[in-house]
Amino acid sequence: MSVHKEIKKVTTHVLQEMKQRGEKISMLTAYDYTMAGIIDHAGIDVILVGDSASNVMAGHETTLPITLDQMIYHASSVIRAIDRALVVVDLPFGAYQANSKEALYSAIRIMKESGAHGVKLEGGREIKESIERILTAGIPVMGHLGLTPQSIYKFGTYTVRAKEEEEAERLLEDAKLLQEYGCFALVLEKIPAALATKVAASVSIPVIGIGAGGGVDGQVLVTHDMLGMTHEFSPRFLRRYANLYESMGNAFRQYIKDVKSKDFPSDKEQY
Ligand code: KIV
Repeated sequence: MSVHKEIKKVTTHVLQEMKQRGEKISMLTAYDYTMAGIIDHAGIDVILVGDSASNVMAGHETTLPITLDQMIYHASSVIRAIDRALVVVDLPFGAYQANSKEALYSAIRIMKESGAHGVKLEGGREIKESIERILTAGIPVMGHLGLTPQSIYKFGTYTVRAKEEEEAERLLEDAKLLQEYGCFALVLEKIPAALATKVAASVSIPVIGIGAGGGVDGQVLVTHDMLGMTHEFSPRFLRRYANLYESMGNAFRQYIKDVKSKDFPSDKEQY
């Protein structure tokens, strides 16, 4: 008889049950094997291989340049580390906007080549066909409304979205439509907390917020931000759980000092 306890994997169905019983869903981003393993073993519910990799891993100013091949590379590295979490991968800019057939091909490549459990797309009613076509292949889809960074050049800024009534109403309608199309969950980014609470109460699928207040069904942050590695990025919604910029910097400085002073390696640190 095995002494190991069977790990209960998080599925889209588990997330639905969590919403029903009022248990908050935890979600973080990961883009590589080592970080994904640490996050998964800490007990996270969902890992997002976000196209924010374009910013935090590749140093681009926006999420637009990252390619489908690069997303698949990040996602397959993450998947190899995971025992429990549900892994969702962003369809990058340019991989689904042209038409629903291309969206389906891109989603299939992500699922087949990385082993991920679902995909996330930015947008509402305008991507109806793509969502429905991806779902026909049995691929779970997560929606994303509010601040949608792939449309940054249309909006011009990264400020809070849907503050005006008209935009707020459209967002609420879009959330209901995404549920109707068959999305299993929805991310709301940087919108007023009152609106996000109303959206979460109006749909039965889990709503996960980033900069959307505490009235939603779960929270997501970019891991490099919450660990304080990206020390120059400081939006109001971000809570830092560590200051890794400083502690990693200290470790690197100490290493450099030890090498220069010949303190490293010591007699015990060689063969
Ligand atoms: O790419 C990303 O990291 C995201 C989150 C901010 C939700 O989409």
